[in-house]
Amino acid sequence: MTAPVTDLAPATPSAHPALDAVRARRSWSKVTDAAPTRAEILTLVSAAGRVADHSSLRPWRIIELRGDDRRVLGSAIAKAEGDDKPSTKPLRAPLLLAIVATYRKSDKVPRWEQEAVASGVAHALSLLLDEAGWGVIWRTGHYTRSKAVAKAHGLAENEELLGWLYVGGKPERTRPERRKELDARPHLDRMPGSDALPDELVHWREKSSAKKSKKSKKHAAKASDKKVKKPTDWVAKAEKAEKKARHAARKAQKRAANAERARTRADLERVTSGD
Ligand SMILES: Cc1cc2nc3c(=O)[nH]c(=O)nc-3n(C[C@H](O)[C@H](O)[C@H](O)COP(=O)(O)O)c2cc1C
Repeated sequence: MTAPVTDLAPATPSAHPALDAVRARRSWSKVTDAAPTRAEILTLVSAAGRVADHSSLRPWRIIELRGDDRRVLGSAIAKAEGDDKPSTKPLRAPLLLAIVATYRKSDKVPRWEQEAVASGVAHALSLLLDEAGWGVIWRTGHYTRSKAVAKAHGLAENEELLGWLYVGGKPERTRPERRKELDARPHLDRMPGSDALPDELVHWREKSSAKKSKKSKKHAAKASDKKVKKPTDWVAKAEKAEKKARHAARKAQKRAANAERARTRADLERVTSGD
């Protein structure tokens, strides 16, 4: 595995280290068994906690899951999902950091703002871990806010999970995955009716609406083609319906036979037990 950077200063100092770190980051869905120590994480959590925080409520906490803690989570996931066997999902990384939003009482800061802070901490921590050489991916599931999972983490009434950062070593032989650079233009918008619309945005809007109408025309043409090309095959439909009915009848017959067998067995048992 690639040795994590413990000395956080790069060899050649960059003029834009934050920009470089954000551009270089990626998620690692597969990681090795190596994991940062609690002391290492404490440094990074302290830095991540510097995100903007309305009224400094610190509406979050992070729970470290190592070793068998992950099995406890696996069992809670199974309970939440109604499965017989514990989920092995939490075992995909040696360390899971559960991100908890801890809502504080405040007249000024609503819950959604507090959740935004907790989410910001998770993003910052994920970036810091990546920069320090660790492989990270933020994961959730349908079970994230289930009762069983909340209980396993010992969450209080005013707490909710935002998922887990799965952390481990970056596998050495993984080919560097290139992420396509994001085209920011459609994401940096202006207010409706703004007369200061940059040319590139006007151009973008025209292009994307032309693309959309071309797409919908193509879709409409395809749909009408389908109608012409594929008339309903009533014979095939009837055959399919008959087949389905035959299958249902066979199933019903089987069920009746099973019921009859059970009844006979019950009678026999009653006779032999002398009731
Ligand atoms: C709140 C949140 C929940 C996520 N849940 C999952 C998840 O359950 N499974 C998954 O494969 N990716 C999940 N992702 C996305 C990954 O963390 C990751 O961003 C994605 O695979 C894209 O990779 P990249 O970060 O390298 O661009 C989640 C991201 C966020 C922010």
